[in-house]
Amino acid sequence: MIRLDNVTYGYGATELLSGISVHLQPGSFHFLTGPSGSGKTTLLRLCYSDLTPTSGQVTLFERDAKTLSRDDVARMRRRIGVVHQDCQFLDHLPIAENVALPLATAGRRDEASDLAELLAWVGLSDRAQALPPELSGGERQRAALARAVIMSPDVLIADEPTGNVDWEMSLRLLNLLVELNKMGKTILIATHDLNLIRAAKAQVSARVLRIRDRQIQLAGADL
Ligand SMILES: Nc1ncnc2c1ncn2[C@@H]1O[C@H](COP(=O)(O)OP(=O)(O)OP(=O)(O)O)[C@@H](O)[C@H]1O
Ligand SMILES: [Mg+2]
Repeated sequence: MIRLDNVTYGYGATELLSGISVHLQPGSFHFLTGPSGSGKTTLLRLCYSDLTPTSGQVTLFERDAKTLSRDDVARMRRRIGVVHQDCQFLDHLPIAENVALPLATAGRRDEASDLAELLAWVGLSDRAQALPPELSGGERQRAALARAVIMSPDVLIADEPTGNVDWEMSLRLLNLLVELNKMGKTILIATHDLNLIRAAKAQVSARVLRIRDRQIQLAGADL
């Protein structure tokens, strides 16, 4: 689905990521971990072609990202749902409208019937008409997850989806991600929360990628 081959990236002259090769196979569940500032968010952005590598190749759905036009990239992005580390909303619009925004943008407003079901799935039916600033941290994270999956993407990329929430809420969010994976979605989650990774491993066969010294290591039982 998404493949990075020998990818190198740096925002300036210094390399942040070097010789990174990752293959997200259909239906796989991956965690990406590593210290703050090690490049987790950067690596995720490379995976959905929000950044272009300095060298190496990114392949999205069997196509070299370099050969994609702007329209192609927009089409690919619809197949990849993203939960950003700092989930932003349009504060003047109710949560239901924020979640449905990707449908409206894609001219698929008619599919909004799924919206109620989706809000129920993330436990936000009662908060559908609330404005984003009125939500708690965990409610915002769940709304961001609903917005990321409303277009039925093949891949879900989530950047610290359980940041700023308590352990019980982390587990609820994890359960939603595991459910998506059981529905066949490919999942990639950046997190520094090793307890979350351990909890996930009890439920799904997840691989753990760790950034260390600008490179990716496959973490084993030594978590
Ligand atoms: N747009 C940018 N321009 C310049 N430097 C950046 C930019 N975005 C990130 N960086 C730097 O690149 C490094 C990696 O950042 P990144 O956000 O990928 O780390 P991270 O592993 O996601 O960290 P955290 O766990 O804190 O979210 C950091 O040193 C950061 O300051
Ligand atoms: Mg980050």
